[in-house]
Amino acid sequence: MNPVRTRTALVTGANRGIGLETCRQLDRAGLNVVLAARDLARGTAAAKALGGSRIRAEELDVTSARSVESCAQRLAAAGTEVDILVNNAGIYPTAGFFSLDEETLRNAFDVHLMGAFHLCRAFVPAMARRGFGRVVNVSSGGGALTDNVPSPAAYGISKAALNALTLVVAAAVPDTVKVNAVCPGWVRTDMGGRAAPTSVEDGADTVAWLARLPDDGPTGGFFRDRRRIGW
Ligand SMILES: NC(=O)c1ccc[n+]([C@@H]2O[C@H](COP(=O)([O-])OP(=O)(O)OC[C@H]3O[C@@H](n4cnc5c(N)ncnc54)[C@H](OP(=O)(O)O)[C@@H]3O)[C@@H](O)[C@H]2O)c1
Repeated sequence: MNPVRTRTALVTGANRGIGLETCRQLDRAGLNVVLAARDLARGTAAAKALGGSRIRAEELDVTSARSVESCAQRLAAAGTEVDILVNNAGIYPTAGFFSLDEETLRNAFDVHLMGAFHLCRAFVPAMARRGFGRVVNVSSGGGALTDNVPSPAAYGISKAALNALTLVVAAAVPDTVKVNAVCPGWVRTDMGGRAAPTSVEDGADTVAWLARLPDDGPTGGFFRDRRRIGW
């Protein structure tokens, strides 16, 4: 019998906040972790602070196809196969629709939609070939159409697009690759602010849970607090 090798998770935007805490939880669960950050020095410092021997930092700006491709090439050269992809990197532009400029909207799409697009294209085909994969798109209830997209315009619209991408990728892969979206809740991070009611540990819990779904786990769903929510 072939022993199952230790799975490897790659988390984007992982030098702080929910991404960093997701790395910590996945490391504690015994996985290899690639802590990806657009600034390598900040990523390396964050990985060092976590201290796990299975955590390594990689430079990765999700808005750049070239940066994603370079990261994928470095991992392939090191023999690292990414089994779990957490598309976590995010920004929070606050403008309302009529004060929103084109660049702000494009930026939000570049990070939330195109980022997940580049990363899924780089890593999901190999997951499908190997017969195992987990993709977790860190979205927001602020982009939920069933709740009238309540977040500020660029944020809400781009997270709604990320939700659509989640369904499209889930439908494009075999059931051995689970592709889900998550709303972490309103979480105390730089983005969420100090008044947020949810700790970063609880905010990352459903992210890490989806990253470690069993073979009979759900795919093509949107979750908060480990429960399905409406798109
Ligand atoms: N906090 C909340 O209440 C809340 C609620 C709902 C959903 N979310 C979602 O949860 C995710 C994490 O949020 P958070 O609260 O942890 O935010 P955060 O503390 O502001 O951290 C955001 C992370 O994303 C990274 N990032 C931004 N643009 C990037 C890019 N182009 N390439 C790579 N990394 C990039 C940042 O890197 P730098 O340090 O280099 O800037 C940082 O590491 C986001 O997708 C967010 O939309 C958060």
